[in-house]
Amino acid sequence: MTRIAVIADPHIGVEKPTFVGNWTKAVAHTNARAPALTIILGDLTFDGANAEADCAFAAEAIRALESPCLILPGNHDVGDTERDSEQPTDAERLARWRRHFGEDHWLSDAVPGWRLIGLDSQSLATGLPDEATQWTFLERALETDRRVLVFLHQPLFLEAWDEADRPGWTVRPAARARLRALLGRGGVDAVFTAHMHRAWTRLADGEPTLVWVPATSFLTRDASMPPQQGTAITGITLLDLTPSGLSIAFDPVPGLETFYIEDFNGTLYPAPAR
Ligand SMILES: [Fe+2]
Ligand SMILES: [Fe+2]
Repeated sequence: MTRIAVIADPHIGVEKPTFVGNWTKAVAHTNARAPALTIILGDLTFDGANAEADCAFAAEAIRALESPCLILPGNHDVGDTERDSEQPTDAERLARWRRHFGEDHWLSDAVPGWRLIGLDSQSLATGLPDEATQWTFLERALETDRRVLVFLHQPLFLEAWDEADRPGWTVRPAARARLRALLGRGGVDAVFTAHMHRAWTRLADGEPTLVWVPATSFLTRDASMPPQQGTAITGITLLDLTPSGLSIAFDPVPGLETFYIEDFNGTLYPAPAR
């Protein structure tokens, strides 16, 4: 059995270190679970999309994880897919990410029988050259006899595959359809996403299981969120893999402080569009 820990949405930084205490507890808890590998599923930094110092802080902080680590960016790390955002994903932000954390997408065959594929959700539907590179990478990465798990920061949808565009919340419809077609060809067991700060598992015949993993940092109140699935819990997620099986467990971290982002009245992040 090989154990993977997934840590999502730590949101740690220098100028606004509100969530660093929860990160420290999540790291200690993860180390105690002794995973063979830890995946960080984006929004690692508080504001790495704008602040070099937050990237440097987070790059140092992840050294406290005792297992090898694979890292993916989220919107707060490299920017938003929407081109009219105040902080769009762009060449400068992606270059900063790569300087501190390496490539924004990857694959790993480290677990016997499995291929892990990590994608940068924040380049999807942007038209950036990085997006085209990643599509080519994904098509090749899926050509394998191994069973596949896919990881990316933003969820594929909130309620249904065919829902309308939800800017800022999900992979955008054109990229969603392309991902659905690629990932539905068979071989992909599950797709893990973060960003919602909620836990949810969607099982459907003939489709990959979709898993929203909980954040370690903060929760959000229903009133500021669009309609969606999921349970408001914080913690990490454990994946136990054998060559023929996968078990998934949400794993609350004892002692995490419960924060609701709305209680900061916009002093940490502006309220998102519902
Ligand atoms: Fe987040
Ligand atoms: Fe996010």
